[in-house]
Amino acid sequence: MKSFQIPPITDVALTEEIRALKKNKNAVILAHYYQTSDIQDVADFVGDSLGLSQQAAKTNADIIVFAGVHFMAETAKILNPTKKVVLPDLAASCSLAEGCHPDDFAQFLKLYPDHKVISYVNCSAEIKAMSDVICTSSNAERIVNSFPKTQSLIFAPDKNLGHFINQKTKRNMVLWDGACMVHEAFSIEKILKLQKEHPDAKFIAHPESEKHVLSVASYIGSTTEMINYAVDDPTQKFIVATEAGILHKMQQMVPNKTLIPAPAKEDNHCACAECAFMKMNSLEKLYLCLEDESPEITVPEQIITRAQLPLRRMLEISK
Ligand code: 13P
Ligand code: SF4
Repeated sequence: MKSFQIPPITDVALTEEIRALKKNKNAVILAHYYQTSDIQDVADFVGDSLGLSQQAAKTNADIIVFAGVHFMAETAKILNPTKKVVLPDLAASCSLAEGCHPDDFAQFLKLYPDHKVISYVNCSAEIKAMSDVICTSSNAERIVNSFPKTQSLIFAPDKNLGHFINQKTKRNMVLWDGACMVHEAFSIEKILKLQKEHPDAKFIAHPESEKHVLSVASYIGSTTEMINYAVDDPTQKFIVATEAGILHKMQQMVPNKTLIPAPAKEDNHCACAECAFMKMNSLEKLYLCLEDESPEITVPEQIITRAQLPLRRMLEISK
């Protein structure tokens, strides 16, 4: 890959270059809400994990530039393997995906031979290949309910989402012990203090958050669902517990409402929660990866074949 010794160029010029390259190469830019605002603004589609998977599966573009993290770009490749999929920074990982190694997972599955396996999309292609169906935070309840109550289930790798869905569906799924380091960073003490200071605000949270945080939320949903809730609910002020990148699109959708990021345990520069993996991408890296068509995502063919099935099942159930 090229080093970043490109001549100084403004973000506006870079954005123009990206738009021109995108057109010439018949590329599409898919971005997650946790990306920086400049990346979201140049993307063709900004969405949650389900929306991004749906877009990746149906695109006619020759190149998918995935402005997100590795498992998302891998999912796009599995769903649309004839396309070239590039990711601005290959090191953009995820604590959930990293915390679930395929060898460990294979050992874990041996303990529950009669269980079906539901894996949250935040996992590697190898884990997907070992699963019966994939889910995202917006369809997890529906996916779980697609199995008869008598069917024993494993839910991996997010224990917080798994616990939340167990409660909603009154199930007792076996949970893999994984978590999102960003959503586990919220401070319940600081959130309760903030709620006292803003009694007119509603607290909304992503289900990757810990159960004591979710227990004080007025609404729990995926990133797209949280944005839709902020739009549809008449409340004028929201305390928002998910990665801070969401505030860009949310504020665009509710320009007259007040959005307060939920505070993290550790004080950091934004007094909020930021995903260091998501933030590895930048407008410059996006430009370079579109120009170089690299770094490219590759997935072994046998893994694509096996992982496609549970992903396609998810898309079918989500229609
Ligand atoms: P969703 O956008 O699907 O809600 O997922 C959030 C997330 O943490 C993605 O990494
Ligand atoms: Fe993974 Fe959490 Fe970052 Fe999403 S926000 S990519 S779940 S570490």
